[in-house]
Amino acid sequence: MKSNELIDSLQFVIFGASGDLSQTKLIPSLYKLFKRGRLPEEFFLLGADHHFENRAKFLKNLSETVRKTLPETFETALWEKFAKKLDYLQLDFEDDEGYKELSRKLDNKESSSRSSRQRIYYLATAPGFFPLIAEKLDNFSLTGASVAGWPRLVIEKPFGYDLESAVEFNRKISRIFSEDNIYRIDHYLGKEMIQNILTMRFANMIFEPIWNKNYIDNIQIISTEEQGIKSRGKYYDRSGALRDMIQSHLLQMLALIAMESPANMATESILQEKIKLLKSLAETPLPDLENNLVLGQYSRLDGPEKYIPGYQEEENIKSDSSTETFAAVKININNLRWRGVPIYLKTGKRLEKKNTKIFVQFKSDFHPSFLDNNEPEANLLIIKVQPQEGVSLQFNAKKPGSQDEIVPVFMDFCNKAPRDLQSTPEAYEELLAGLIRGDQSLFTHWMEVKNSWLFIDQLREFINTREIKPEKYLPGSRGPEGMKRLVSQDQRRWWDNADLEDKEEKL
Ligand code: BG6
Repeated sequence: MKSNELIDSLQFVIFGASGDLSQTKLIPSLYKLFKRGRLPEEFFLLGADHHFENRAKFLKNLSETVRKTLPETFETALWEKFAKKLDYLQLDFEDDEGYKELSRKLDNKESSSRSSRQRIYYLATAPGFFPLIAEKLDNFSLTGASVAGWPRLVIEKPFGYDLESAVEFNRKISRIFSEDNIYRIDHYLGKEMIQNILTMRFANMIFEPIWNKNYIDNIQIISTEEQGIKSRGKYYDRSGALRDMIQSHLLQMLALIAMESPANMATESILQEKIKLLKSLAETPLPDLENNLVLGQYSRLDGPEKYIPGYQEEENIKSDSSTETFAAVKININNLRWRGVPIYLKTGKRLEKKNTKIFVQFKSDFHPSFLDNNEPEANLLIIKVQPQEGVSLQFNAKKPGSQDEIVPVFMDFCNKAPRDLQSTPEAYEELLAGLIRGDQSLFTHWMEVKNSWLFIDQLREFINTREIKPEKYLPGSRGPEGMKRLVSQDQRRWWDNADLEDKEEKL
């Protein structure tokens, strides 16, 4: 539910405050919220981890990082005002004494107003620490109703490694925090155009009546990246594209695109429909995966001007690793709305460009007189998530000046001028604002996580039993050769490779 609950006093504790996520995303986003007057009157941010000896060293490093991260928004005087609200505790997550000190620090900053206080524990640590920290918080009476009206626990993915580990992980956490107070981050839900999907679908008469198998030919949900795995080898080699991107971000986009109309726009109603959709997905028999799943892994690029190490040469990656850095899969959803409509999901690292888009291709049927030589193109709705944000609708029109030549033209809604690729901090800003409001609609529920794992586990089982190895592809390419077959065997095409942008500009 979009709660408008206003809080006067907020204590925000970040475990892992010296890590990359905290320093380049969380704290810069909190600073931006502060700048925009979106933080409560009384705000106290406590960073905790073992990295720095004291507050001064933590702050020195932090202010430099935030300045670099937000070159345009950083203002020294305002930062100093914000920094007064920040404290740091050198804490070993396993050490009981540290939690006593944490408790003292929070008590000292406790607000006198008892009515509208909130406390948030943000676990920006390696996932292995999540249950331990939750347990320690509980042991030291830092949880429960008596503490600032039920503190909230925020956790970053991965929520487990497969269904079994996710269940176990959830069992440990939910013994201490109720589902209402657990906020699982999927930062794609903070992206502007993802938040726009339901509005577009349900606030426009022109889409909903045709949003089904009678009018839609296929859907493509695609998120590609130019970057490799950076320094996340240890995590990524156990994960791969299916677990890292499809289990979370792509299935969340799918749920919003394909769910049924909710009873109303309250969080619970939307959630029910998303869960139903993900459950249908998990329960729909998989298509013949032999022909409908493509895995890839980037190889080395050893060009005259550029050298890019192959995945197997990256730091902390086994030299014979068969982890996929690319995955494309065709799925079906066996319900009345979608039966028979192929949905293609595609994601990968070290590809030609950073691009997240959803393509909805409508069925083609034209007046017979248009079917002769210059057959019109299918109508296409493109939801552009990043780097550009907006929506394009492709339809057919007569080429100006010609007698009967038909050309596809685009109707465009551009949300914002194209941004640089740093969309994540903006998403985090939205997510943190939602978290402070208590708006669970921007976070994932356990049942969504569970059904997503059920689906991914089936794919993984197929890969393991058949010992499928990823196909190699070159950095900067569009992915492994096999992905072309995935759509061409259905007489379809990948729309992200269709260079529509060039076409848009030419028209
Ligand atoms: C994260 C994945 O969840 O999302 C990363 O773990 C990926 O591997 C990132 O790079 C992509 O996010 P965005 O917002 O840059 O598309």
